[in-house]
Amino acid sequence: MSKNTLILGLQWGDEGKGKIVDALSADTHAVCRFQGGHNAGHTIKVNGEQTVLHLTPSGILHPNINCVIGNGVVLSLESLDKEINELKEAGISFDNRFYISSSCCLILPTHIKIDQVRDKKESIGTTGRGIGPAYEDKIARRAIRLGDFSDETNFKKKLEKLVTYHNKVLNKMHDEDSISVQQVVDEIFSYKHLYDNFCCDTQNLLIDWIEEDKSILFEGAQGTLLDIDQGTYPFVTSSSTTAGGVSTGLGIGPKYINKIIGITKAYTTRVGEGPFITELFDANGEMLAKNGHEFGATTGRPRRCGWLDLVALKKAVFTNSVTDLCLTKLDVLDTFKEISVCIKYDNGNPIYKTFEGWNDKTEGVTDFNNLPHNAKSYINFIEEFIGCEISIVSTGPSRDQTITR
Ligand code: GDP
Ligand code: IMO
Ligand code: MG
Repeated sequence: MSKNTLILGLQWGDEGKGKIVDALSADTHAVCRFQGGHNAGHTIKVNGEQTVLHLTPSGILHPNINCVIGNGVVLSLESLDKEINELKEAGISFDNRFYISSSCCLILPTHIKIDQVRDKKESIGTTGRGIGPAYEDKIARRAIRLGDFSDETNFKKKLEKLVTYHNKVLNKMHDEDSISVQQVVDEIFSYKHLYDNFCCDTQNLLIDWIEEDKSILFEGAQGTLLDIDQGTYPFVTSSSTTAGGVSTGLGIGPKYINKIIGITKAYTTRVGEGPFITELFDANGEMLAKNGHEFGATTGRPRRCGWLDLVALKKAVFTNSVTDLCLTKLDVLDTFKEISVCIKYDNGNPIYKTFEGWNDKTEGVTDFNNLPHNAKSYINFIEEFIGCEISIVSTGPSRDQTITR
């Protein structure tokens, strides 16, 4: 495996990033998140036990791997504290291997309220986690950063000023009640142990590790079509989910990213509102949702389902300089009579190529040669259309249900 690998989603999120990062991180030195926040829900299944991670990098279940939350992440201290406590209860140690950038901007309770109130009117279908409002404050240069805890008096002043501003937005723009400034200050200070225990200059860590020739894995959240610039704007998240986000979100130059694995499901899903050209409203759509258990890992909302869109996928491969494709949830297609992929758009409508299904079990297959003939043909067609090798195929949610070629 090349030294440093980026793993990211090529669709609208939930491609199986958590599973693949966990499966590939056994031999890596560190796993780093570079954007997003607790809007992410990354599912890992090991020995029959399922873990859903929102902020903690998906290498955390391997006992000796370092985990980093980079500056590009917006941080809910409440959510992180809860997640750490739950993982600790499950026997996972965070000592000397978990690091959060001092430059992470904090998500406050007022961000969450503004997000939820606003989404009722704007109908983006956000996760309601305060992500958009937190990134707005970052860009407007008024955010509170984790490292601000180093000067508590100043921190408190900045926090009071920001929450007062948020309350004006809530009162005047949305006719909503304020949240008590004191309550927010008390709540944020109740999580100061996270700063004491884990805050550091994570860029310096990366510089050291790269000098020591250690291998690093970068874990994307959300997906390419949710990228603030390259996605289906305005139905997107508020961060750079694409490959460029690694450099800004961790302070690491692009030349240190040696391999870029783009993940796509064998079909397509989307949570929330926005365009979705290959969406299905028929029995096939229902079967994808049912077989794929397509409910959001963060909000539990049903995911919209449709066929694989190769036009969008090809563009996503270009956007991210993908070097290797990973195809997940192949097993979900096992019982379909026919399977279609979109190869062209005609006035915004999908033109499909349809394949005969394989009607055979791929679930749990770990050797490419043991896949049914029609499944291999499906994979080969995607590779040829996109012009990129599918070097990983996922055949089930568990760590070991993976084919590497
Ligand atoms: P992420 O956000 O990209 O990490 O993906 P999620 O965890 O939100 O959603 C992926 C879902 O599919 C989770 O429930 C996984 O356990 C499951 N999953 C991942 N890979 C496979 C696969 O190859 N087959 C099946 N059946 N399920 C999978
Ligand atoms: P992972 O990392 C799928 C979607 C929301 C909404 C839009 C904006 O698990 O793949 P936000 O709360 O970010 O402002 O919502 O983005 N969204 C996701 N969809 N997977 C995710 O993360 C998502 N994170 C945000 O549903 O449409
Ligand atoms: Mg998810």
